[in-house]
Formats: sequence, C-alpha cells, structure tokens
Amino acid sequence: MTGIRYHQGKLHSDGVPLAALGEGLGTPLYVYSADAILERYGRLEKAFARLEPGIRYAVKANSNRAILRLLRHRGAGFDLVSGGELERALQAGGDPSNFVFAGVGKQDWEIQKALHAQVGIFNIESEGEIDRIEFHAQKTGRKTQVALRLNPDVDARTHEYISTGKEENKFGIPLSQASPLVDRIHRSAQLELVSYHVHLGSLLLDPGPFLEAAGRVMAFMDADEAHRRGVRTYDTGGGFGIRGNFEEPLALDELAEGFEELLLPRGLRLLLEPGRYLVGNAGCLLTRVLERKQRKTKDFLIVDASMSELIRPALYDAVHEIVPLREGLEPLEKPVDVVGPVCESADFLGKDRKLPALERGAFLAVLTAGAYGFSMASRYNTRTLPAEVLTRGDHALLIRRRETLEHIFQNEVEEEWK
Ligand code: LLP
Repeated sequence: MTGIRYHQGKLHSDGVPLAALGEGLGTPLYVYSADAILERYGRLEKAFARLEPGIRYAVKANSNRAILRLLRHRGAGFDLVSGGELERALQAGGDPSNFVFAGVGKQDWEIQKALHAQVGIFNIESEGEIDRIEFHAQKTGRKTQVALRLNPDVDARTHEYISTGKEENKFGIPLSQASPLVDRIHRSAQLELVSYHVHLGSLLLDPGPFLEAAGRVMAFMDADEAHRRGVRTYDTGGGFGIRGNFEEPLALDELAEGFEELLLPRGLRLLLEPGRYLVGNAGCLLTRVLERKQRKTKDFLIVDASMSELIRPALYDAVHEIVPLREGLEPLEKPVDVVGPVCESADFLGKDRKLPALERGAFLAVLTAGAYGFSMASRYNTRTLPAEVLTRGDHALLIRRRETLEHIFQNEVEEEWK
C-alpha cells in the first residue's frame, strides 16, 4: 500500500493510519509518504529512460532535508534557487555536480557559495548575471559550466501566477536576444555553455507546451553552429502537472516520445526539474474540526489549519480535495466551506464541499498538499509552523518538530522604548 489512501476504511499514509499520527503529534500536521515519492521518481526515470534523464528535484516544492536525503539516495540531483536551498542540499549529502543553481536574481554571496560548492550548472537569466558569475568564477581557477535560461514565449496554459515562459514574464532571456549572450559566454575564459534551460510554469497538464518550447530551442540551436557549440543537455525545467490524489493527467510517455524525437538526433541528454510531480500527491495536511457555524445556504467548518499552513487556495484558488479519515460516510446535503482560524476571508481550505456530519475534534485530511504546502507556510497571526512526518511502510518518522512560541520570539529584541 503506497501513498495517502484508504485501507480497510481508514485513511493511511503508506501503512500508517493518519488518525494515530494526528492523535500522537497533534494538528495541523503535514504527512508525506516516502513510498509514494519514490514510486513517482521511478515513473519519471522509466518514462524518460532513453534520454538518460538527469532528475534535479526542485527543492522549493518541499525542502525538508529528510525528503532531500530520500531523493538523493535514489539518485536525484537538485534544482536550487537560493543560498538557503543550496545549504539544505549540501547538508542532505547531495552531490553538487548534480545541482543546478537557478533563480532570476542571484545575490553575490549566493554565487560565491555555489562556486565554492562546485555546483554542476548555473542557470543564467540575464546579461548582468553573466558578468557577475564570470567575475566571481575568476577566483576559482576552474571553468564554470553554465546554461542559458531561455524564454521561448510559449503559453503554459496554467494559472497566471505560475506561468513563467511568456515574453511578458520576468524569467529567462527571449530567444530574439539570446544570440549575443551565447557569443558573450563563448568568449569568456571562465564560462562554458553546456545546456539550455526552459521552465514554462507549473502545473502543466499537457505535453504540447513542453514540446513546443523544446522545438523552438532546437530551432535556435540549428540556426547557428555557435548556438550548439559545447551544448550537451536540454533542461526542460519542472511543471509536470498533477490533479486529484489518484489521477495522472499528464501523458508522460507521449512527452518522452516527443523529447526523444527532438533530442536524440542532436545527441542531447534531458534534464528535468520536477517538484510537485514527486511530492504533491505524496502529502496531505491533517487538521481537526474546531467549530461548525450554521448559515442559511451553507455551513462553515472551522478547522485548526489555515492559510498560514497552506496558502494555495487563497493565493491561486487552488482546489485541494478534503476528506474525512473514515471512508464511506454519507455526506450531508448542505455544503460547507472549510475555513481556518486566521483573520482573513481569504483563509479557506475548500469551498462548497460535501462532507459528512463531523463533530468537534474530528480529523480531516487536505490532500495533494505535499508540494508548496509547508514550503510556503508562514507564521501569520503568530501561528507556529506545523510539524512534518514522513512514512515508509509501517514506519513513521517525525521530520520536523512543531515550532514553539519561543522559536517565534527568539530573534525579536527585548528593547523597550518609552
Ligand atoms: N524549475 C524551475 C526553474 C521552477 O521555477 C520551478 C517552480 C520548478 C522547476 C518546479 O516546478 P514544479 O515541477 O513543482 O511545477 N507555488 C506554486 C508553484 C510555483 C512554482 C515555482 N517554480 C504553487 O503552489 O502552485
């Protein structure tokens, strides 16, 4: 039994009943299935096998070091966007030659740290960054491998906040401006162009945009010998979409076939930066009912998780399935909004849901919360960050203790102004 599923009528994470975790560790609680993460890793490896894929897990999706360790033992490298994420990946024992260091605005200390760690590839996003990486790289006495992040102006057909590959987005370098930057890198004694990088956005449900973007980059490479000189990989970024807990909307085989047609004749390997695909459906947010408020057309179910722990519904109108821990209970006729205790009307986890009658103290699981859940959590309303648990088979491991109020106050100074 793998993932967040009902087993003998009770919701489990792998072989562990969620109710036992909630009772023992309290709520709100993030629970992740290691078995599901590894299973999905295997699916990606298999689908893209002919392209000798380099899987660079996008750490931003869920950056707990226990998850990074799990993935690096399975062979993953990491896609990193900050010095903090780099530090996590290093602490998790990752091999820096399998890291890509990305990010639209890299600070000098971050560039220096990444050079010092000898990360595999810098994904460059602007001309100024070429100068700065070159400047810092001079001191290392080594050649630094770089990729250009291209903006292919392809519509990812996703929520506008997570679309990144259109001309009007801040990311990457438009194809029309890339040629002089390629020449600039070739002229550098410090830098070596080894890859092109594209990331169109997150939650893509169809292979079309991925392949359209790759096609445009291949045309750019074909247009000029200088554009392909030294280039060994094509990095398609992340964005592999998921839907409900058990659905597989993106046709990976079709996507892989399309990449094979484009990359194999050109002798290119594929790099992938999946985040959500690996961890999204492998996790849930466990919460407990605090109160029910009855209104004319619907009720409010007030739970102890909120937009502070899971901001995706408030920020992107994301729909996360919310289920009780016991299977097969009859839902009530009247719909409910599942809302948190935070002082905002945007603080909802789900709207107009059909749920059974639930008493105060009953557990609910917000599904598909393994990606961009904890990693985007905040302390808004002075709420402590929740605990996180990883399961594998019948075992559960606490991978983050619940924060305490002392943690929150520790960096606040005690000075008093009268
Ligand atoms: N590579 C790059 C360069 C990225 O910017 C991202 C995500 C990824 C890979 C991983 O994308 P994924 O495979 O997870 O879709 N907070 C939003 C998602 C933001 C994604 C940002 N970049 C959400 O909760 O939907």
